[in-house]
Amino acid sequence: MSISVVILAAGQGTRMKSSTPKVLHEISGKSMLFHAIDAAQKISDDITIVLYHQAERIQKEIEAHYNGVHFHMQDAVQFPGTGGAMKGVSVKHTKALILNGDMPLVTMQALESLMQGDADINMSVIKMDDPSGYGRVVIIEGNVHEIVEEKDCIPAQKEIQTVNAGVYCVKKELLDSYIPALNNDNAQAEYYLTDIVKMAVDEGKTVHPVIVKEEEFKGVNSKLDLAHAEEIMQRRIKTKWMKAGVSMRLPETIYIDSKATFEGECILENGVSIQGISHIIASHIKTNSVIEDSHIQNSHVGPMGRIRPDTKLIDTHIGNFVEVKKSTLTGVKAGHLAYIGDASIDEGTNIGAGMITCNYDGKNKYQTVIGKNVFIGSDTQIVAPVTIADDVIIAAGTTVNKDVAKGSLVISRTEMKTVKNFFYKFFGTK
Ligand code: UD1
Ligand code: MG
Repeated sequence: MSISVVILAAGQGTRMKSSTPKVLHEISGKSMLFHAIDAAQKISDDITIVLYHQAERIQKEIEAHYNGVHFHMQDAVQFPGTGGAMKGVSVKHTKALILNGDMPLVTMQALESLMQGDADINMSVIKMDDPSGYGRVVIIEGNVHEIVEEKDCIPAQKEIQTVNAGVYCVKKELLDSYIPALNNDNAQAEYYLTDIVKMAVDEGKTVHPVIVKEEEFKGVNSKLDLAHAEEIMQRRIKTKWMKAGVSMRLPETIYIDSKATFEGECILENGVSIQGISHIIASHIKTNSVIEDSHIQNSHVGPMGRIRPDTKLIDTHIGNFVEVKKSTLTGVKAGHLAYIGDASIDEGTNIGAGMITCNYDGKNKYQTVIGKNVFIGSDTQIVAPVTIADDVIIAAGTTVNKDVAKGSLVISRTEMKTVKNFFYKFFGTK
């Protein structure tokens, strides 16, 4: 790979009105910056991320997920602006692609379109009905002449509908000579990266406009933009999985994390939410169920099932209002109203309505182990830590707080008494 990538992520993101740095806001379960890094990693082995605002927090977050990414600290006090961000950045290859950290919708294919040809600079442009807020691109005879920021535009320039999308592919030699020469002689007193275009044109270099799709290059600046970007990303993710054979009823009501995967024939009904790193294999997830960071294979869940992180369901049926957390269930039926936490439950076991694993004593969490072919009656409490062996019957209403041996019946209830005609004694007869 002979291209370097620089991702600008030092800006403050004031319009997000958030204490979380802008680039760490998530789209489909992944921060915007990570979407950009993922696209960059497909085309380059030399990625530099420019940071300043909340640099430490962002760098830590990146380092927890990626290796080999370089960081550059902008001196944003002395050199504010996108050009200031590039000061001191050195790239390894002969060309560099510069993009923004707040462009989560950009794809590798879109970036590749900017890497083609032999112009000195390729820059991304979008034709917009409403160009307000963007730098206007002055194109003369098919070549870019200059980029004028909105705040620096004369009225006639404001009418230009071709805007700068903010991604450029620039020859290293141009960066090395133009970036140190930038000045801040403009309405915002900032160092504009866009001024390198004018410098290039003045020296007779070629600057080509590459028309890109607004949908891929749209920057996210506000929570409204974030929501729009989420819609676009969700549409892409769902289209991809439907093409791969996943059935979705009313797909616009379904949410799927960018890290989730599907195999075999899966069905997702309306209102389903698949979150985190979940793997769904040949399973049917019914209306309004939520799956988080779990592995679901050959199983049914829901309607209104909740499968929390680190759960593994194999050949299992989970019905309505059943919550499962950090548990492995193989060949189990839990049809109604249950809480199963920190448990492992084996083949042929049936969980009655209202069974609860009491996994937490207020200080620690404990394990429940349930063997094969166990029949657990309704409204039972399983107080962990506890092991129930194979072939056990637990009577309805029982509290299990000791290990149970293979083949046993366990029952704990006070004997039922009947007081005949008590109703009439108490309320009287009419
Ligand atoms: C920039 C372009 C504008 C273009 C628009 C597209 C300039 C001067 N203008 O404007 O022509 O239409 O993008 O979205 O480049 N950043 C830093 N350090 C800074 C300032 C910004 O790293 O000091 C980063 C931001 O984190 C962001 C990117 O650069 O990722 C763009 O910054 P932003 O302030 O959004 O630039 P615009 O004013 O929108
Ligand atoms: Mg912007």
